[in-house]
Amino acid sequence: MHVIVNQISRIAQDINALELVHPAGIDLPAFQAGAHIDIHLPDGYIRQYSLCNNPDERHRYQIAVLHERTGRGGSTRIHEKIQEGDTVEISEPRNHFILDEGADRYLLIAGGIGITPIKAMAERLHSIGANYTMYYCAQRPERAAFREKLSSGHFRDRVVFHYDEGSRENQLDLQSILKQHQPGTQLYFCGPHGLIKAINENAQHWPKGTVHYELFGAPTVSQGMTGAASVAAGSFSVQISSTGQIVEIPAHQSIVESLRSAGVECETSCEAGVCGTCQTRYLSGEVDHQDLILSEADRQDQILICCSRAKPGSMLVLDI
Ligand code: FES
Repeated sequence: MHVIVNQISRIAQDINALELVHPAGIDLPAFQAGAHIDIHLPDGYIRQYSLCNNPDERHRYQIAVLHERTGRGGSTRIHEKIQEGDTVEISEPRNHFILDEGADRYLLIAGGIGITPIKAMAERLHSIGANYTMYYCAQRPERAAFREKLSSGHFRDRVVFHYDEGSRENQLDLQSILKQHQPGTQLYFCGPHGLIKAINENAQHWPKGTVHYELFGAPTVSQGMTGAASVAAGSFSVQISSTGQIVEIPAHQSIVESLRSAGVECETSCEAGVCGTCQTRYLSGEVDHQDLILSEADRQDQILICCSRAKPGSMLVLDI
């Protein structure tokens, strides 16, 4: 669908917020906290951005985009080529980072631009009268998106800012914060790899099903490999169940790349295991899941074919 970029505002150093509205001024499709949209950018790029406004709002979507000058180019296109009044194509919201609204209390942790889905969660938790605390880590105050809003109103007593000046020594004291799991508490966090890893390490003793996260940014791309996602070594075979066709997947190619070379159409977007567009059911095989979004339950019969693989030498049967 198409939306109008109604407003662009600078909300922190190198971070712009974009407000997107329907061209006819009508409501947009509803979304839940944690959802993201695809944005089709100039030059054919498609990127995913979390919606960060209150999910109760139907008249607009809001995204916040950090200008990553060394990134893959999506944020530069948004910062340099998209202007107020432009029409852009987006997908309907999709959600792989679903907020369980039935918990007794919530602990939210955001790092850097990972604030975007976490802010939507905080907005939603306030709307439903839930008990939550949020930690927001940034290098410095001027790099903290939505700082004014998150320091005032109903957020003021809920949000704890932590500035680390980019130094690991000043990192948020996760050990203390996560030391005890209070029964009924759910943990949601989003941020860069380092923060995700540190939180997971410190929350290992939390009960199964209470820890939820979304990585901000695509996985690291391995040097010398094709495609956006890195792939594990080892070749294997894929069988298309509807036709019986067998496609060999060499060590240096993803399933998507090999299928396309064999004339099989595959829909993709991020090609990095973070959006879910390429999610495919498999009927048999030993999958080496490399994605960042599927739950353990999903992984029993679903695979993201842009990044995940099968055991070297084995056969994976896809339900396509
Ligand atoms: S294309 Fe985005 S997860 Fe595969």
